[in-house]
Amino acid sequence: MESNASGLVQRLAAAGQSHLLQFWEELSPEEQAQLTLDLQGMDLQEINGFFERAMKMSSGIKQEKMDARMEAVPREVLGSVTRDRDSLKDWELQGLQCISGSKVAVLLLAGGQGTRLGVSYPKGMYDVGLPSHKTLFQIQAERILKLQQLAEQKHNVKCCIPWYIMTSGRTMGSTKDYFSRHHYFGLDKNNIIFFQQGMLPAMDYSGKIILESRAKLSMAPDGNGGLYRALGNQGIMEDMERRGIEFIHVYCVDNILVKVADPSFIGFCVKKGADCGAKVVEKTNPTEAVGVVCKVDGLYQVVEYSEITLATAEKRSDDGRLMFNSGNVANHFFSFSFLRDVVQKYEPQLQHHVAQKKIPYVDGKGQQIKPDKPNGIKMEKFVFDIFQFARTFVVYEVLREDEFSPLKNADSQDAKDTPTTARHALMSLHHRWVLNAGGHFIDENGRHVPAIPSLKDGTDLPIKCEISPLVSYGGEGLEDLVKGREFQPNLMIDQSGVHELVKNGV
Ligand code: UD1
Repeated sequence: MESNASGLVQRLAAAGQSHLLQFWEELSPEEQAQLTLDLQGMDLQEINGFFERAMKMSSGIKQEKMDARMEAVPREVLGSVTRDRDSLKDWELQGLQCISGSKVAVLLLAGGQGTRLGVSYPKGMYDVGLPSHKTLFQIQAERILKLQQLAEQKHNVKCCIPWYIMTSGRTMGSTKDYFSRHHYFGLDKNNIIFFQQGMLPAMDYSGKIILESRAKLSMAPDGNGGLYRALGNQGIMEDMERRGIEFIHVYCVDNILVKVADPSFIGFCVKKGADCGAKVVEKTNPTEAVGVVCKVDGLYQVVEYSEITLATAEKRSDDGRLMFNSGNVANHFFSFSFLRDVVQKYEPQLQHHVAQKKIPYVDGKGQQIKPDKPNGIKMEKFVFDIFQFARTFVVYEVLREDEFSPLKNADSQDAKDTPTTARHALMSLHHRWVLNAGGHFIDENGRHVPAIPSLKDGTDLPIKCEISPLVSYGGEGLEDLVKGREFQPNLMIDQSGVHELVKNGV
């Protein structure tokens, strides 16, 4: 090895990671150069420290003990679209006012690997098979565009909702390229800011970094809580400050119903003087894979589905509802000043969570092995682990059928949260929008189709109805187009008008 590499050899030895060079002599000069570069960019002592603390924390969590420390969200911090109907309009107006003053930004967490969905490209580029074939990114972009217009019309000023998009080493190139190829879906490219989260190596149970191949470390994004470090080291907080951003809506890429920069949610949080807020839906099934917002030892937190025991998940209150029923939909509100404090002060206090995984590795002969049981860990920070630092924390409960249908898994029988369930959820929401605006759908016999689809031939197919976000953000503005009209159950409403599509033609 060359001279500057000898420092690396020592560093590796000091960190107990010398095995990473075990195939050095067999590597090509290019592979050697790449491996050196990868290792030079790593703070091995810091990574060892992360490992020790993460393992200590995960072995120290006695599940039963954690359950005993959990408390449900108290009613006084909770706002609800059903129980607080009278306040909804006020909250929405407040939110729109903030948006019209260009004080609101949205921040998309899109650095995940989409392992469960099984695609090799970023999840936001997924087409769930809507009649328009819009992808998740396009739907979100168009909602932002429409909301800007609504705020502008309401307050008669030009405004902008900057869109910060966090990617990872694996997703940055393809995400940027995708947006550029689609001309940023009509948004101003200067208001879409991409940045990249960090990566961490996978480690075996003794703290040795795993080699994925002879020349390559096994690396993964450092969790969606990697956000805070990335915000700090990539100048994003400065960019927000320059733009005068005061409130930030953070959300995950996979929810097809996401109300990006939701004015009601933002308005609710602002009116309550909150520095941090979480949107939730009522969790009704104890085993549903959502985290629950609750208090642990008096501090707000999300307890992940993997961290709660079945006994606690199944506990019910006197009214028969699940006791821990604030299902986290991964939509968070932060004030700018809170976010800045997190980035500057609290981020280093966040612990990594440990996920045991089956991690492909090379054996002593350099052959790659795909293990059939977990052989090591990945370390991840979680975006909601900063709730504990909030001074005023609030929770906003919305209806699942209106706002939450995540895309997690590929289609297969019995699978939940799939392209099919996401597509159906969006189309049935749009169906209800048409009904609310005074339109009707008729079946082949000319009869009105009910809002809740009947089970026909064992299938539960919703009416095919898609409304472009460029026409309506949340169901508004449809009366002129649909009131008093009857439609075949195959409808598309976009900027060019109302189209009844030929049967099976989409
Ligand atoms: C997440 C929530 C869970 C919630 C559920 C709702 C977290 C840690 N968990 O779980 O409480 O009930 O969504 O659907 O938020 N991501 C990154 N970088 C990473 C890893 C993930 O940006 O390193 C992004 C993904 O791109 C995605 C989001 O974070 O947009 C959520 O990741 P995912 O792994 O799907 O979280 P879940 O386990 O489903």
